[in-house]
Amino acid sequence: MTQDELKQAVARAARDYVADRLPVGAILGVGTGSTANFFIDEIAAIKDRIGGTIASSEATAKRLEGHGIRVLDLNGIDAIGIYVDGADEIDASMAMVKGGGGALTREKIVAAVAKTFVCICDASKRVPVMGRFPLPVEVIPMASAYVSRELEKLGGKPKLREGMVTDNGNLILDVHGLSITDPVGLEAHINQIVGVVTNGLFAQRGADVLLLAAADGVQTYTR
Ligand code: A5P
Repeated sequence: MTQDELKQAVARAARDYVADRLPVGAILGVGTGSTANFFIDEIAAIKDRIGGTIASSEATAKRLEGHGIRVLDLNGIDAIGIYVDGADEIDASMAMVKGGGGALTREKIVAAVAKTFVCICDASKRVPVMGRFPLPVEVIPMASAYVSRELEKLGGKPKLREGMVTDNGNLILDVHGLSITDPVGLEAHINQIVGVVTNGLFAQRGADVLLLAAADGVQTYTR
């Protein structure tokens, strides 16, 4: 199976998960990235059961609206039932590295509000120790050099993502060379560097459910 076929398979499984578990009329959080895009295309078929969606990026909002799926303002709602999103890496504790698409801050906000976080990925994303995929860190532009120096002190090699401005008007530093053995601790540590908006570690609030696609089918894991 190609990677796109695996993404398609897991997107379909996530659509079924939502159709089974999200109460009719409840709000769905929708992630960003190529796997999330497959999911968006799948949920067009069940859009009448969904009360509305919260998009984790402008690109996702556009794709949802293209299917005639209602996109709401997070400040106008009280709860998100299920949030479905991809990941760049996920470990056995269901902690993730996210932000390869640069949408990490809005993704983290949607994840914080959601009752259940369902991570969807293909088997290549599951790793024993995260860090091979460079850790994205969203920074306020004037602080990027300072934050880079602070990240170097942690043993990482930050690299400014060229040509990238986030939906929030900020920059992304991709931190190479980390071996993330304490995801909860590292997430908290990086977040307290002045000038950091968010980092792409989703450990304190990891996934509740993982739908993982491999050649022999989609497996479900729960925290
Ligand atoms: C977007 O900012 C990311 O967090 C994505 O969820 C993550 O990069 C996974 O993307 P793909 O599904 O394209 O691999």
